[in-house]
Amino acid sequence: MKEKNAKFQPQSSGLCPQCGGTGWERILEEGFEKVKRCKCYYEGRRKRLLTSARIPRRYLHCTLDQFDDNYIDRDKWPLDASKPQVNISMAKEAAQSFVRQYPNQSKGLLFMGPCGVGKTHLAVAIIRELIKKKGISCLFYDFRDLLKEIQASYNPQSQTSEISVLGPVLKTEVLLLDELGATKVTDWMRDTLTYIINSRYNENLITLITSNWMDDKRGDEETLEERIGTRLRSRLYEMCKVYEILGPDFRKKNAGFFS
Ligand SMILES: Nc1ncnc2c1ncn2[C@@H]1O[C@H](COP(=O)(O)OP(=O)(O)OP(=O)(O)O)[C@@H](O)[C@H]1O
Ligand SMILES: [Mg+2]
Ligand SMILES: [Zn+2]
Repeated sequence: MKEKNAKFQPQSSGLCPQCGGTGWERILEEGFEKVKRCKCYYEGRRKRLLTSARIPRRYLHCTLDQFDDNYIDRDKWPLDASKPQVNISMAKEAAQSFVRQYPNQSKGLLFMGPCGVGKTHLAVAIIRELIKKKGISCLFYDFRDLLKEIQASYNPQSQTSEISVLGPVLKTEVLLLDELGATKVTDWMRDTLTYIINSRYNENLITLITSNWMDDKRGDEETLEERIGTRLRSRLYEMCKVYEILGPDFRKKNAGFFS
């Protein structure tokens, strides 16, 4: 009797009616009974991956579909063919193609450009799609938060940082490092960052990066290399395909500055 009741329990307790919450479904194949992963297993995994990706609430809405590339006057943003410059349509295409081809590519992406052109939106949209469509483990980290967390967990006596912060950053299949160079780094921070980037490079793990800092010198502004150091910048060339995004500040568009 108890047995019988237990059978009906899954539905009434909200467990998956297909597998009773085990995550395994029994199937009959060529006369043999086999098990395969139930659909709910993948759905649950995707939900967990999305939660553990640490995407800030402000960017949770960002998808590739929602990235509007129709509103700009492309002639206003002429591209210099000698540089890796793209307009926002080309940047969106690059993001779409990255998702489509994943995991068949060896390099990540580095989106550079001025404020509000959609660098973070595109990068977040990529990790959201990788989670949703391909079940890949991804992690979002704001550059400043990462350094703060590593520093806060740093033990000067043992000269180590807690693995709870560094572990996921080193191991996640795709890391999104947002706003690289946003703070000036000390030697210690630079060493730590170089260690992270190098370890991921050696493990063939993909890193996506956004930055406001450019490679070219513009007036008094520092370059990305000056912000993060020559060694790290040169490592990033090997790890990421660079896109310098040219376009208007979408935040200004939203505020009604232009149509
Ligand atoms: N083409 C677009 N279509 C729809 N929304 C956009 C587009 N570009 C930017 N946005 C939205 O505008 C806001 C600013 O974009 P985002 O934060 O991605 O810019 P950014 O290039 O990362 O800027 P910053 O250099 O200041 O970090 C976000 O809310 C984003 O969702
Ligand atoms: Mg940004
Ligand atoms: Zn199930």
